[in-house]
Amino acid sequence: MSQSAARLVVLVSGSGTNLQALLDAVAEPAFGARVVAVGADRDGIEGLARAERAGVPWFVHRVSDFATRDAWDEALAASITEHKPDLVVSAGFMKILGPRVLTAFPVVNTHPSLLPAFPGAHAVRDALAYGVRVTGCTVHFVDGGVDTGPVIAQRAVAVEDGDDEHSLHERIKTVERGLLVEVVGRLLREGGTVRGRHVYFGSQRKDPQ
Ligand code: GRF
Repeated sequence: MSQSAARLVVLVSGSGTNLQALLDAVAEPAFGARVVAVGADRDGIEGLARAERAGVPWFVHRVSDFATRDAWDEALAASITEHKPDLVVSAGFMKILGPRVLTAFPVVNTHPSLLPAFPGAHAVRDALAYGVRVTGCTVHFVDGGVDTGPVIAQRAVAVEDGDDEHSLHERIKTVERGLLVEVVGRLLREGGTVRGRHVYFGSQRKDPQ
């Protein structure tokens, strides 16, 4: 891996299959990045075991261990800062990030719906309950809201008769992992420009008409 590889910090709360997709992608030097740390909001999750197996340093900050949400935000920002990331990836991280993290680093999040439909923690359940026939996944920049930041890329997944939350989520996650790896790779290689709600890869894009 070259010295100039971009530095990623990945935040997780669960099984970490999106993290694993990034770990697998960065194993290829041409991807141009490495995962320098994994952060979590809880112990004992498979996402941290994946970091351990990959030899990637990890840290945990549980909201319940802090007197205030602000103190948690400060501790999380301090741990992320130690690893000097070029980009922070929220990959199944189930907490709203605070201003200290968000003002210090660009953060992208992956979400299992076609935003702005079905934001929040139960996107797949909510899509099924609504009865949509197509849902999908979104990779977006994180702002202070709940899944409200500018959309970078989206991919659709059909809802099939007989789907339950698990079967639909697993199909979405298969697509989601590919999209996340593609988007992170392009942002690192080409850069990204945010104009209002619009995101363009690269920095040469003309203003929209
Ligand atoms: C993903 O679908 C993510 O969008 C959602 O939770 C899932 C995390 O999966 N917030 P994993 O932990 O990466 O396997």
